Amino acid sequence: KKYHVCIVGATGAVGQTFLQVLDEYDFPLASLKLLASKRSAGKTLAFKGQELVVEELTEESFSGIDLALFSAGGGIAEKFAPIAVKAGAKVIDNSSMFREDPTIPLVVPEVNFNDVEGHSLIANPNCSTTQAVLPLKALQESFGLTRVGYATYQAVSGSGQNGINDLLETRKGNEPAFYPHNITETCIPEIDVFLEDGYTKEEMKMINETKKMLHTPDLPISATCVRVPVLNGHGVSISVELEKDFDLDQVREVLSNFEGIKVVDDGPNHLYPVSTLANGTDDVFVGRIRRDLAAEKGLLLYCVADNIRKGAASNAAQIALKMAQHDLI
Ligand code: A2P
Repeated sequence: KKYHVCIVGATGAVGQTFLQVLDEYDFPLASLKLLASKRSAGKTLAFKGQELVVEELTEESFSGIDLALFSAGGGIAEKFAPIAVKAGAKVIDNSSMFREDPTIPLVVPEVNFNDVEGHSLIANPNCSTTQAVLPLKALQESFGLTRVGYATYQAVSGSGQNGINDLLETRKGNEPAFYPHNITETCIPEIDVFLEDGYTKEEMKMINETKKMLHTPDLPISATCVRVPVLNGHGVSISVELEKDFDLDQVREVLSNFEGIKVVDDGPNHLYPVSTLANGTDDVFVGRIRRDLAAEKGLLLYCVADNIRKGAASNAAQIALKMAQHDLI
């Protein structure tokens, strides 16, 4: 079976990576339509050696489409995802618009693919949360979780082209045009907007999305999200308390055996998760695995993944591929 697919937001950083991963995964395509704003209509993007023309997104764009991959922000998703579903398409949306809606599944295929069943609209999680839930799910299955603390080290590509430009320009000595501080000179503990309780929206996304995907609404979780002067590849430091006793060899084995995780944990040889190792891959690299000296059944780990790939485009494409394999499109 082959599918008529469209990409909404094809010209964006994630949209262009959609093109790349659909090609890499050899996704069974009957046709591929590229959609973006009016500004981009007529531009071309290369796919499998062909130049595909970008079309303007309209309410009529979804006729005959089986699968629509959205990465054009929350406003576009809010308006056009229901139109696509009505036209008969399955939709996977990368924005935060539907993620916390209890009637819409939020999915990382290695973690909770079964949540997809019976749904036409699926939300793709926040980039830092996606990578963190893989090791957490592995630990949950074997030991149970009682508390999670996150601290993130997030690359500028997570802010899209504006973030990338700001790092490249400030590196050359130009003034920041996007971030509130010079990202070349400092880490910035502000991602997305501040809420009344002092948390940022990004931090609340990590907290709420993790609970949703692990099916643990009462699990205590906290998070601090920080932008760092790295082009691509988010890091997440996880401190987790487990229900059952564990030893570190068991933990390493459980993590190594989990689909999508690569354990890299040989500190003295300088081998641990770094962005340069993760970039261009779909794996979640996990290392720095050790006991938390401040908690009885506490464990510390550090993970890194390519935030544009596993954190966004690849995760959505993997959902789509698995749906195709299960005849859910
Ligand atoms: P365009 O390039 O035409 O503006 P990013 O997150 O990397 O900035 O990408 C956002 C994506 O969403 C781009 O492909 C962008 O297209 C698309 N987009 C933004 N506004 C609209 C709109 N009004 N209609 C359709 N696509 C849009």
